[in-house]
Amino acid sequence: MSENAEDKAVKIPAQSDGTEPAPSGTATVAGDAAPGEILLKVTGLQKHFPIRGGLFQRQSGAVRAVDGIDFEVRAGETLGVVGESGCGKSTMGRLITRLLEPTAGRIEFEGKDITHLGVGGMRPLRRDVQMIFQDPYSSLNPRHTIGTIVGAPFRLQGVTPEGGIKKEVQRLLSVVGLNPEHYNRYPHEFSGGQRQRIGIARALALKPKLVVADEPVSALDVSIQAQVVNLMDDLQEELGLTYVIIAHDLSVVRHVSDRIAVMYLGKIVELADRVSLYESPMHPYTKALMSAVPIPDPKRRGAKSERILLRGDVPSPISPPSGCRFHTRCWKATQICKTTEPQLLELRPGQRVACHHPEDFADQAPQDTVLLTAAKEASELVPDAILEESAQAAEPESGAVAKVPAQKTAEPEAEATAAEPAAEAAAEPEQPAESGEPAAPGESGEPAASQEPTASQESTDK
Ligand SMILES: Nc1ncnc2c1ncn2[C@@H]1O[C@H](COP(=O)(O)OP(=O)(O)O)[C@@H](O)[C@H]1O
Ligand code: SF4
Ligand SMILES: [Mg+2]
Repeated sequence: MSENAEDKAVKIPAQSDGTEPAPSGTATVAGDAAPGEILLKVTGLQKHFPIRGGLFQRQSGAVRAVDGIDFEVRAGETLGVVGESGCGKSTMGRLITRLLEPTAGRIEFEGKDITHLGVGGMRPLRRDVQMIFQDPYSSLNPRHTIGTIVGAPFRLQGVTPEGGIKKEVQRLLSVVGLNPEHYNRYPHEFSGGQRQRIGIARALALKPKLVVADEPVSALDVSIQAQVVNLMDDLQEELGLTYVIIAHDLSVVRHVSDRIAVMYLGKIVELADRVSLYESPMHPYTKALMSAVPIPDPKRRGAKSERILLRGDVPSPISPPSGCRFHTRCWKATQICKTTEPQLLELRPGQRVACHHPEDFADQAPQDTVLLTAAKEASELVPDAILEESAQAAEPESGAVAKVPAQKTAEPEAEATAAEPAAEAAAEPEQPAESGEPAAPGESGEPAASQEPTASQESTDK
């Protein structure tokens, strides 16, 4: 579509402080949330991917990727979401951006139920909620110039920014620290970090309220990860954005998150503000994740401390362990952990935990004192020095989760068609609308939009 063809399209101002009301002629979902107010509310959210087999492709089971989670995101905050590979973080991100259709539960955005909105109903929301993908190599269409890529959201939404698309795209490029003159270059001419900046510029084009960033720096060189994270942080302040940032490594989200949700096998096991989570993690899994984060403080480096190293693989989400899903790897597990699922309860103000025997807190099942046999061997205390050695050997991937054995899950459905720059379509969700419903696909065929090459993800998660 040429820019001229968009004359009748809605105009939006070129500059934004992020707080302006939506331009007349466009609908926001239900009015703006003031800072601190709940922007997104998720209740009982589930996504089960069916596994089909046999001659008649009958459903023989399901991957319970997200299995009943509750949380909210407040306007202006950054919610970090962490957990080992395969625990359902990306699925959660795609559910809340409505790139996947939930199996059950409810998603409210600015007070409006958007759980099952169709294409038409989603249209205004597509402007307000954007996603940044993990892999800057596959998420940009190699055949399009970055001008076309960053300008695509305007074309898809039929929006003409003041001064025209080209001018606005060039402004966006300079906002993310790229040379506006490079408008006509192709993605392959840019480094990974620069490509991720292009992805960020595209996500910001329509001045979204909520940006969901799925491992935005995992695929990047360690040396430039901080630059990209800092850029996102600066943009948040400038534009009044709200972020959900997904990471497998706590070190990425620890400085930028206001609150952090820890996921394990499709569940949130702990949700707390950053300080509480770091200073007194209550869930054993959180403690193990934290324990594996390299300590940047030189004073503590020399100190004798030991860290917890989880043994064993993350169990399969096809048949997760009974009771507390972490009981097969938890060094505190007792019988009740095996039989009864702990609820996510606010044990301290602002700190929600799902555990029968939380750390540094009144035991929730004090009658149950006998450790499961497996618990005795569930974890290992490893002196810092040894961990540091192995971390150095494993460079550039430092940190924790990296040392935990990667998940071995049967991949029941063809998960990634990968080769196509599919993520771009996701950021431009109207694109698949031409070939079908983007957000409410048939169970077996999730939209190409939501798929990224998991292979590359897996390899960075190791
Ligand atoms: N389209 C799909 N079909 C079947 N299983 C899937 C699909 N997408 C993800 N999964 C499975 O769901 C689980 C959670 O995946 P994901 O959300 O990508 O986790 P994470 O982002 O935390 O690594 C994994 O076991 C994964 O194999
Ligand atoms: S103590 Fe029990 S409930 Fe708590 S994390 Fe360990 S296994 Fe789960
Ligand atoms: Mg993921």
